[in-house]
This record gives sequence, structure tokens and C-alpha cells, in this order.
Amino acid sequence: MNLIDEIEKLKKEKRAVILAHNYQRAEVQDIADYVGDSIELSRKAMLEQDAEIIVFAAVDFMAESAAVLNPEKKVLLPSLGARCPMAQMLTVDEIKRLKVHYPDAPVVLYVNTLASSKAYCDICCTSANAVEVVNSLDADTIIFGPDRNLSEYVAEQTGKTLIPIPEWGFCPTHLLFQPEDVTVLKQKYPDAVVMVHPECSKEMRQTADFIGSTSKMCRYARETPAKTIIVGTEEGLLHRLQKENPEKQFTIAYSDAVCPNMKLLTLDRVYASLKEEKHVVKIPEQIAIKARGALERMFQVKS
Ligand code: 13P
Ligand code: SF4
Repeated sequence: MNLIDEIEKLKKEKRAVILAHNYQRAEVQDIADYVGDSIELSRKAMLEQDAEIIVFAAVDFMAESAAVLNPEKKVLLPSLGARCPMAQMLTVDEIKRLKVHYPDAPVVLYVNTLASSKAYCDICCTSANAVEVVNSLDADTIIFGPDRNLSEYVAEQTGKTLIPIPEWGFCPTHLLFQPEDVTVLKQKYPDAVVMVHPECSKEMRQTADFIGSTSKMCRYARETPAKTIIVGTEEGLLHRLQKENPEKQFTIAYSDAVCPNMKLLTLDRVYASLKEEKHVVKIPEQIAIKARGALERMFQVKS
């Protein structure tokens, strides 16, 4: 039996589902039951009533959110090394330190944070709903972290004052995109439209016809009449974009924009994870209760 058949067999035997982020390797996306962005995966994890095991083909903070929202299920992260560096950039001490300076400012945290940090925020957001979450708050000054670019983008869109926490948080993969690469591609494809993730720099965002989360980019790609689309996000998304829009041409703005953490999840590791039921994501109950509250408040915001 080949590896894909083995995975399918184990999935049935163990009542498991595989949820994969849009940045996963093509072969991992193809065996997943569902492929989506960070908010869609969290929602999907909650809807999988019959599943006993959720294999989360993504990075640590996404699997943690699934574990926090589904305490009765076994959530597996196939590679312990799949840790998002941005999520490691914000510590609980940093949040407490800034709260002393801005005691009345609510704390909004991007889901790209560890559960321990989420437990200290008022509400979470993703790049798909950050503007709506910030607009839903009855405050003009808001502590926001850890992505500095997303915080700048949300401040531009809402007109509110966002205090970045930490001051310098970033995604190493999205920082690789540079506007000069878009200029060169636009010369080659003058009719192309450009879509970028809000984790990109302001200069890069200024080149864009559309700015949004990975799922919003998928929707934009479907709906735009343009036939050629320049993409400013991790290269894994191009597999889904091309699959969903075979008649369109997608070109990445910088071909080495790879998230090495996402790519740690190979088919072999997904198989081993299912077979040996490793690595179980466990969040201490006191942290999970608070982090769950922050995620649930996010789900209540209409976006
Ligand atoms: P999305 O929520 O847009 O999928 O983004 C998650 C992420 O990690 C972006 O780098
Ligand atoms: Fe983290 Fe960036 Fe990878 Fe997204 S692309 S998981 S923010 S390192």
C-alpha cells in the first residue's frame, strides 16, 4: 500500500481528520480533508463533531488554537519543530509591561501567538478579521501584536492608534517580498493584478490591488476578471490558487518566499503522526480557559 492509502486507512480506523493550512506542501494539501487559513481551520476544528483526532498540518499556534477550542479531541502536530517565529516574539511579560503604560487600552492579539499570550489579551484576531475586530472595540488606543506590519495596516484602515507589541514583531517570510520585484513582474505582465498579505511591508502593500488573508486572496483570485495574478504571500498558496483557477496564471512576487516551519510537515511525518498519535498538543487548563475566551470573543465579531 502506498503512503497516501496508508494515511487514508488510518484516518478511517482512528476517526481522524487532517486540517491543512494554505501554506502546506502540495501533497499534504491534497490528502487533507480541509485546506484553509488560520480562522477557517479553527472553525472547522470545532465543526468536526465526529472526529476523535485532528491532525493539524500547520504550525504550533494554529494547532494550539484547535486544542484550546476542542478540549475533548486529540489534536496532533506532526512536527514539533513547526513553530512560527512570529508567535515566539511576544512574551507574557511584554504584555504585562505595556499594560502598565496603557492601563485602559484593550489588548488585541493576532492568532499568531502562543496560547500563554492569548490568555492575557482581551480578544484575538486573524488577518481576515483584524480590521473588524479593532473597529468592534469601544476604544481609540489599542495594544496590538505581534505583527508590526499588520498593526500598521489595521491602523491605516481604522484610523485608531495601535501600540505595537513588541515594537518590532514580523514574519521573516513575508519580509522577503520587495516592491522592486513587483515592478519587474508588472513590466512582464502589464495586465496582471497584485494581491499581498498584510504581513508584508507598507512599501509592498502599496503595490497591491488587493490586501488580505490567504482565504481572502483565494476569493479575490476567483472573482477578479484579471487572468494573471502576482501573489505576495508564502508559495504554498499557489498550489490551491492554481487548482481552483486552472484558467488563470499565478506568479509569486518572490520565488524563495517559503515558510520553513510550515514546510517541516512532510507526508511521512503526517503518516507517523497519525500512526503513533504524536505530538499531542496540550494546553494547561487555566491558560486554555482564558485563551478560549479571547478566541470566542473574536468569533462573535461579524466580518
Ligand atoms: P492566514 O490567516 O492569512 O492564513 O495567515 C496565517 C499566517 O501565518 C500568515 O503568515
Ligand atoms: Fe509564521 Fe510567517 Fe510562517 Fe506565517 S509565514 S507561520 S507568520 S513564519
